[in-house]
Amino acid sequence: MATHPPEPFRIKMVEPIQLIDKKSRETALQRAGYNIFGLKSDEVFVDLLTDSGTGAMSQDQWSGIMLGDESYAGARSYQRLSETIKEIFGFKHFVPTHQGRAAENILCAVILKEGQYVPSNMHFDTTEGNIRARGGRPVNLVCEEAFCDDPDVPFKGNMDLEKLENFIQEVGVENIPLGMITITNNAGGGQPVSLENLRGVSKIYKKYAIPFFIDACRYAENAYFIKVREPGYEEKSTLEIAREIFALADGATMSAKKDAIVNIGGFLACNDPALFEKIKNECILREGFITYGGLAGRDLDAIAVGLREGLQEDYLAYRLGQTRYLVERLKEEGVPVIEPAGGHAVYINAGKLLPHIPQGEYPGQALTVAMYREGAIRGVELGSVAFGHPDPDTGEMVYPEMDLVRLALPRRTYTQSHLDYVVKVLGSIVKQAKDLRGFRITYQPPLMRHFSCTFEPL
Ligand code: F0G
Repeated sequence: MATHPPEPFRIKMVEPIQLIDKKSRETALQRAGYNIFGLKSDEVFVDLLTDSGTGAMSQDQWSGIMLGDESYAGARSYQRLSETIKEIFGFKHFVPTHQGRAAENILCAVILKEGQYVPSNMHFDTTEGNIRARGGRPVNLVCEEAFCDDPDVPFKGNMDLEKLENFIQEVGVENIPLGMITITNNAGGGQPVSLENLRGVSKIYKKYAIPFFIDACRYAENAYFIKVREPGYEEKSTLEIAREIFALADGATMSAKKDAIVNIGGFLACNDPALFEKIKNECILREGFITYGGLAGRDLDAIAVGLREGLQEDYLAYRLGQTRYLVERLKEEGVPVIEPAGGHAVYINAGKLLPHIPQGEYPGQALTVAMYREGAIRGVELGSVAFGHPDPDTGEMVYPEMDLVRLALPRRTYTQSHLDYVVKVLGSIVKQAKDLRGFRITYQPPLMRHFSCTFEPL
């Protein structure tokens, strides 16, 4: 029978949750315009909307909060964070930011001009949004295997190196002010990138003198995948692997709400002193002085402690064990899931589960609503709603390769019985899959529509 390594912690504080009845769930859905972002958290039983900022902090992180130094400039908390970032990431400069997208915004503001391209394996929605908001064009060059069914491909997050080099030659280096890679690849199933691939990507960006920035949100999970899947890294610690990863890059954007296990925070790091001058100015303008960057001093301490805890290997074995467990159990129920299991989340292939619903009627949205209606479980659509967009040249709708629904696991928060509950609910949805219907969008904003658009059932 499937199982996962036991939690390497015990619970010392609890937060009650309750399952509201079916009729109340229906009312909540209607009020929210069928957009699960419009639900109140009290209306949700198991909340797998995101692993971002939703984890449980440790006793050492809470102790760190008490030590927070709230000085406007040069706080001790900043020094502690600075030492930790030096040790793990090794970049020469950094500014704290209030979250990952703020780091992306600053980076795009200082480096990107209208009409320019930013390649990556796959950009996440906020990165795409920040690039588009400056008139830039995000480009996804993930490897072909990313979309194959083979459960034994170890690094489906890898970038296609040939595509990358062809792309650079096609559009010209002068039109690529920055190259990125996302580890793990959140928009593509939470799949890791190998060190071999990172070295290849780095070599190409270097060859063309394109600054290389890593979207590092889930770098610790990626490092652990490298340890257990990439030959030659079994004996290396996750810290050593992380250092090797970041030594290949010129900088990083980080949402500390993921692998630093805090409720808020992020940073932008780089090596180039001239670029950092611009970053500092933009940070002061938008976020705050460079030694706190939109956060409280106590947040910086919680991040410093969390960055180290996030790399602990017994924790990572349990964490990746949880997603693997959920994938195994869902498969037993006939739910089509992306394999192998990702780091932070399980991705259900809604397009496959609901082949009768076309992309323009949003199969992922149909499944997301069904999960809430059936069990008050909140997941998130990462498919035609989140990534569908009009082509900038033709205006025609472009849909993503897959219509996924993501069940993200908050860190150190839910137990195996919560996961078993999720499996049971999805099992009953599989049985009624052919009766599920699609949706029509009744309102949408111009950018990042999935957060606030509303729907009507078809
Ligand atoms: N990059 C990646 C890969 C992300 O997954 C996220 C956030 C960000 C950047 C932005 O960070 O939220 O701190 O501004 N992802 C969350 C999610 C929201 O649910 O996957 P942020």
